[in-house]
Amino acid sequence: MKKKVLLIVLSLSMIGMIDHAAMSWETAVILTPAPGPAPRINGTRLFGVRPGSPFLFRIPATGERPMSFAVENLPAGLTVDPLTGIITGAILERGSYSVMLRASNSKGTAARELRIVCGDTLAVTPHMGWNSWYVWENHVTDEIMRAAADAMISSGMADHGYTYVNIDDCWPVKPGSTDPTLRGEPRDKSGKVNSNPRFPDMKALTDHIHAYGLKAGIYTSPGPTTCADHTGAWKHEAADVERFVEWGFDFLKYDWCSYSQIAKDKSREECQKPYRVISEILRRQPRDIVLNLCQYGMGDVWEWGKEVGGNSWRTAGDLGGSFEKIGLALFRDGFDLYAEKELHRFGGPGGWNDPDYLLLGYLSNWKGQTVPTPLTPNEQYSHVSLWCLLAAPLIFSGDITRLDDFTLNLLTNDEVIEVDQDPLGLPGRRLAKEGDLEVWARPMEDGSLAVGLFNRGEGLKVIEAKWEDLGVRGPQKVRDLWRQRDVGVAEGKFEACVARHGVVFVRLWPSD
Ligand code: GLA
Repeated sequence: MKKKVLLIVLSLSMIGMIDHAAMSWETAVILTPAPGPAPRINGTRLFGVRPGSPFLFRIPATGERPMSFAVENLPAGLTVDPLTGIITGAILERGSYSVMLRASNSKGTAARELRIVCGDTLAVTPHMGWNSWYVWENHVTDEIMRAAADAMISSGMADHGYTYVNIDDCWPVKPGSTDPTLRGEPRDKSGKVNSNPRFPDMKALTDHIHAYGLKAGIYTSPGPTTCADHTGAWKHEAADVERFVEWGFDFLKYDWCSYSQIAKDKSREECQKPYRVISEILRRQPRDIVLNLCQYGMGDVWEWGKEVGGNSWRTAGDLGGSFEKIGLALFRDGFDLYAEKELHRFGGPGGWNDPDYLLLGYLSNWKGQTVPTPLTPNEQYSHVSLWCLLAAPLIFSGDITRLDDFTLNLLTNDEVIEVDQDPLGLPGRRLAKEGDLEVWARPMEDGSLAVGLFNRGEGLKVIEAKWEDLGVRGPQKVRDLWRQRDVGVAEGKFEACVARHGVVFVRLWPSD
């Protein structure tokens, strides 16, 4: 067979950029075409629910409104609202149900299969949503959370699969605080935790979120106090979970914080203990609550996070702990950690490695202001591409009410999100490294391969993804995922020019 090597050089926007370390020198180029007017169904293709639990799923679809929705083969107990596309009810019988979602508008109809698995496993694909921490930190309020839910709908993010609206730290009472909006009785007479005056009615808040077909997340610590010194769940775990269920939460981030004072030592058993306790309590609830372990990677949590009941586990410290060093943390806690510890071996349906939130758009600079992310545009493309290759939860933590077009484009490219949400659930890994140039890949359920060519160094560089490294053979059809454009057929290798700290993100399908 004639060996023909077709070289494809992808660099359009990137070549045009002036390569310079300072962000202001790099143009923020929107690579992705806007969604068209015809309906397109997006987001996960797989959904886990427990028997009897309240079911809530909003069909994510882009396209002109008004749009109407229908679902074929819905299992007994579920109904869909044709105007909103929100599916509600409860499934009593365990099993795997294949349903056909349909979304129609004046431009046509889109159809897509959704597999609903009614069993014990939640988070069968990585969670997608928004978290308050990196933009609102200790200023979060009920009003901010409502506005975030509103913005998830009005920005269109929900139409691409974003679902969870999660409050981070600082909603409980802060013992000893002189701020009247943080004071109060930490618990009621039955011992259940109270919210502080900034959250006057948690049930009304989750009702507001659920009315959109979205889900609500909350946060606490197994220690006596949270990381920001608000009331934690220590010795009140069951009462507090009952409260979260009464309030209607669907997601719990359980953050180690002051549990260091309680743990006897740093042994694996002590690291696991609070998570075993909380997941056991969660399992008994008449409501599905996804559990996110946050303990900064201690005790190689990836090896046991799933076993103790976690649906995801933070693999390192805070990605945005130092605003100025977010870029460094991205490369260290993202690329290096995942490659060196081979973390791809541990994530999968029901339990995902969590490298922390998407630090895009406007973030707190921890000096009382919200300012644009310090990541350069190319670093931002690398950030999202890497998270999708790693099968990481896609939780945006910038200001969702203040999304510029570039940030929205980064968050809502459906072909990029499809890599993250691939139902096979096999995280990607680094397959080649030459100095600062790296090739990462993730196998997809349909037999294709998502491939990221990353340039972690300075200057524009040519990166080769060789078939022998990727483990593929023969001619491959190449599609550029950020540009949503076919770029031809390649044989033997795929080659692209990649800007400083940038990425070219493609998907390969055998072409014969
Ligand atoms: C820790 C966590 C962060 C955030 C803060 C809140 O630092 O890792 O994600 O939840 O606590 O105080």
